[in-house]
Amino acid sequence: MAGWYKFPVQRSKTFVNVLAATMFLLIVNMCVFWTDFNHVVKYGHYGAATVPSKIDDLFIRRTDLSSLAHRHMYRFVSSLEDKCKGKDVFLVVVVTSAPAHVKRRNAIRKTWGNETMFPHGNVRILFALVHSDNAHLETSVQREVQTRGDIIQGDFRDSYRNMTTKTVMILRWAVTFCSGAKYVMKTDDDMFVNIKTLVSHLQSLELEVRTDLFMGAIQTGVRPVRRPRNDRYYVSKEDFSDDVYPDYLSGTGYVMSMGAVRRLYVTALMTSSMPMEDVYMGICAERAGIAPRSHSGFTFHRFGFTVCTHRQIVTSHHYSPTELLTMWDALQRSPECGWVRGHFSTIYAKAVNRLSMILPCLFIGCGAMEE
Ligand SMILES: *[C@@H]1O[C@H](CO)[C@@H](O)[C@H](O)[C@H]1NC(C)=O
Ligand SMILES: *[C@@H]1O[C@H](CO)[C@@H](O)[C@H](O)[C@H]1NC(C)=O
Repeated sequence: MAGWYKFPVQRSKTFVNVLAATMFLLIVNMCVFWTDFNHVVKYGHYGAATVPSKIDDLFIRRTDLSSLAHRHMYRFVSSLEDKCKGKDVFLVVVVTSAPAHVKRRNAIRKTWGNETMFPHGNVRILFALVHSDNAHLETSVQREVQTRGDIIQGDFRDSYRNMTTKTVMILRWAVTFCSGAKYVMKTDDDMFVNIKTLVSHLQSLELEVRTDLFMGAIQTGVRPVRRPRNDRYYVSKEDFSDDVYPDYLSGTGYVMSMGAVRRLYVTALMTSSMPMEDVYMGICAERAGIAPRSHSGFTFHRFGFTVCTHRQIVTSHHYSPTELLTMWDALQRSPECGWVRGHFSTIYAKAVNRLSMILPCLFIGCGAMEE
């Protein structure tokens, strides 16, 4: 047994170091990265709702909401009443867009938003626009409304602070013209959305999660920007008086079941507006007793060019129309990802997810997308 103790100290140290390093990497890999992009966590464990809890189509039809609705009552210029008629709609994706963003809309129509991928009409994709003060622009928008048939439009002015009204318009459209749909998603026109992945994730949800679903990328402990007053995200004390926003889902993309849409809509009519639409939805969700759920596939980063990653995630952010087209093309052409490639692109994506919080410009491009 004496030989055992004669083991060279030098080598054993190396061995121990290598072993420790390997174990460390393994543990980091497992703890930090070893979650897939289909992982749901519940936030904001709210108690009872402060608004009526049973809000269904009948409630909405029988209740006179006009007295409440002064805040968000705008006429539809284009309402696409037939978009969902006679179809068994599983998911409606509504993309908020500005009148001038026709290139972005066209890129989405050609890529992830091409409805012909879903031949039975069970996934519908449309754009939500508002009025433009620029007469020339408004004329071309009207032409687009007529020729494309995929735009709902409200008659109020476009501005960041009117985004909230636009979101409520989406909810109203859904409960009025598409209340048979199972899920409604709100997203923006600089996003990539992997609809096929989203649909399969939604289909695999458990019943308990499916009722009153409000799911996306969670934002927790965010404080209102109080200065400078001209900051894009400035929120006054009158708009929101507390120091911290309730848990909310990033406006880059969230999905709601129709039951949640109804309750959020009616709650919004009873809740005073504030400029940030995603925070506002979080406030309404809290009042309605709907807990937001964070889904690891909903990201608001840009992942560079990794086909395997884009197969797994549901949303990613900051794409120019050209980038969207290039990436879509590659996604169509490249074969399925194997386990190893898939695993390493997951690790890469997770690393981007974390690093982009420290080095945002590297991944988000810091304003490169502004037109
Ligand atoms: C959508 O896809 C179909 C079939 O691949 C194609 O024929 C059509 O041109 C596409 N639509 C757009 C707007 O690119
Ligand atoms: C929002 O839209 C309404 C109706 O067009 C308009 O009167 C109001 O000025 C807009 N708000 C902002 C902040 O632009």
